[in-house]
Amino acid sequence: MEKKFKRTLVTTALPYANGPVHIGHLAGVYVPADIYTRYMRLNGRDVVMIGGSDEHGVPITIKARNEGVTPQDIVDRYHKIIKDSFEEFGVSFDVYSRTTSDIHHDTASEFFERLYNNGQFVEQTSEQLYDPVAGQFLADRYVRGECPHCHNLNAYGDQCEVCGTSLSPSELINPRSALSDAVPELRQTHHWYLPLDRWQPALEKWILEGHKEWKSNVYGQCKSWLDLGLQPRAVSRDLDWGVPVPVEGAEGKVLYVWFDAPIGYISNTKEILPDSWEKYWKDPETRIINFIGKDNIVFHCIVFPSMLMAYGDNFQLPDNVPANEFLNLEGDKISTSRNWAIWLHEYLRDFPGKQDVLRYVLTANAPETKDNDFTWRDFQARNNNELVAILGNFVNRAIVLTHKYFDGIVPARGELQDVDINAIDDMKQTIARLTDNIETFHFREALKEAMNIARIGNKYLQDTEPWKLAKTDMARVATILNVAIQICGNIDIAFEPFTPFMSKKLAGMLHLEKLDWNELGSIDLVAPETQLAKPELLFEKIEDDAIQAQLDRLDNIRRENQIKNFKPREISPTIDFETFEKVDIRVGTVVECVPVKKSKKLLKFTINDGLSTRTILSGIAEHFKAEDLVGKQVTFVANLAPREIKGIVSEGMILSALNADGSLSLIAPATPSTPGANVC
Ligand code: 2FM
Ligand code: ZN
Repeated sequence: MEKKFKRTLVTTALPYANGPVHIGHLAGVYVPADIYTRYMRLNGRDVVMIGGSDEHGVPITIKARNEGVTPQDIVDRYHKIIKDSFEEFGVSFDVYSRTTSDIHHDTASEFFERLYNNGQFVEQTSEQLYDPVAGQFLADRYVRGECPHCHNLNAYGDQCEVCGTSLSPSELINPRSALSDAVPELRQTHHWYLPLDRWQPALEKWILEGHKEWKSNVYGQCKSWLDLGLQPRAVSRDLDWGVPVPVEGAEGKVLYVWFDAPIGYISNTKEILPDSWEKYWKDPETRIINFIGKDNIVFHCIVFPSMLMAYGDNFQLPDNVPANEFLNLEGDKISTSRNWAIWLHEYLRDFPGKQDVLRYVLTANAPETKDNDFTWRDFQARNNNELVAILGNFVNRAIVLTHKYFDGIVPARGELQDVDINAIDDMKQTIARLTDNIETFHFREALKEAMNIARIGNKYLQDTEPWKLAKTDMARVATILNVAIQICGNIDIAFEPFTPFMSKKLAGMLHLEKLDWNELGSIDLVAPETQLAKPELLFEKIEDDAIQAQLDRLDNIRRENQIKNFKPREISPTIDFETFEKVDIRVGTVVECVPVKKSKKLLKFTINDGLSTRTILSGIAEHFKAEDLVGKQVTFVANLAPREIKGIVSEGMILSALNADGSLSLIAPATPSTPGANVC
């Protein structure tokens, strides 16, 4: 397939500059795109990787408003964090630019103007929600209300984050303005619409007939959109942040962020290749690949292609859109607003020099066909059991043994025996599968195959046992270690797209000058007589305390979120004073407290109630240590009918408050009290 194309343009979804990037972004878009691009470069192919920040859109203006700064301040802050962290993480963009750049504003304006002049829009006046207090129309996220599908009370005007449905502001039940909390009213406004229905037949031909090879999630989503029948889609908004609509009388209106953002791919290509950018967009011999997350499928497969067709001028459509599903974190959806994420810049701070570990884990566990879960325990296990114990171990053994028996000088090999030939054949077959998987965007499988090369290496050393032969047959040891070092060379090339930092270090140890994918499978990568550098560990074990610190951080965030979202229960129906008076609440002192045998939850209290002592069972063992409670004062309902639980009679109920985060607080007198005192 690749023969047909002279060059490849890899685009990566432009992340919104309203927050840093997290592992969900990395796993969904940037790690796979980087693997693919690095692989293409190692193959000597002409490839350009485009990235940049998406700096328009309502969430940015809302964040600016909440912080009392300008939208420009927000995007300046996050563009820098995102760009720097990508660079440190080794995402090898050829350009990482931004949609507030002049070149982008000019390109997006020109794009709109051409469509406008060529009659590619329909203009419509419609009723939209308007905030009478703030005095502005409420685009997308400026409206909140109840989702008509799942009844989440806090759905946004463009999407419900709970059930994932795309919405329009007018669909929300009981809409409120996110600006002033006012009830919005309907007012007339004028906008430009891209009639997607005009492009329906062309899209059907291009996708449904022409790209049956696309991932089933992508093809399936496109098919459902097309089956529903495409409708005109508004491409402008009433906002003051964005690319102004370049038409007379359009004051106060900007291009919809999803109209200008994908044009960012074009502007960014122009920025880096001012003289040859057109070749990458308009020559049918260019292959365009869009790496995106699943929430972007409709924009990349339906909306942007319609825009490109409407523009004409030979703009090429993507040849593939390998969208990934979502990555969850410790069982919960990643969410910027709930801070439920592992932020790349924080990972780089907490795990310096461990870029490859995260790249490896995110690929090994990539959400290629379904949503997947990232857990810190899995991260630790994959590092310790795979990177350290399989890959690092093999390379280290091969280099250490070469130092031990040949002073680190790669020996020439003699005649190969069956065991050598079999290992080399295995490696070649593994490499063939690895290449095939990368070509078809199956990066998880590809990584497994890369790791299998290290497995083959370990098995080879285990089978040949050069340390035993060293006593009797140094010529044979030379052959074995030569083969083992060649396997290390193959690992170096095969892993470069996945773990480029390790690859660079290993290339330094093996003195490999230039890595070339076409040389994979060769057993002449490292020439005899090469003096190997001293072996350095490629990966280090990650200890429990580093993982625990991350888990503690997430626990704290979970707790903070529970507290933030806590809604006290509705007040119970009113009771009269006489009824209240019937409940006899007293202060008591804990004389003894022990766990109840065979129960996880129950503690058995002996309470001094001022008159005598009584036994009370309480289901709070998961919240308190029994011994910590002895001597403490508690409050309890003294006249509750006795109940037998697990063969013990409980004579009352100890009072505690159930907090928002699920913890309990015992209700005790604020100052020392007398056992038996009435609580009233
Ligand atoms: O979903 C997002 O994060 C968007 N900012 C992606 C834009 S991709 C492209 F079209 F620019
Ligand atoms: Zn919903």
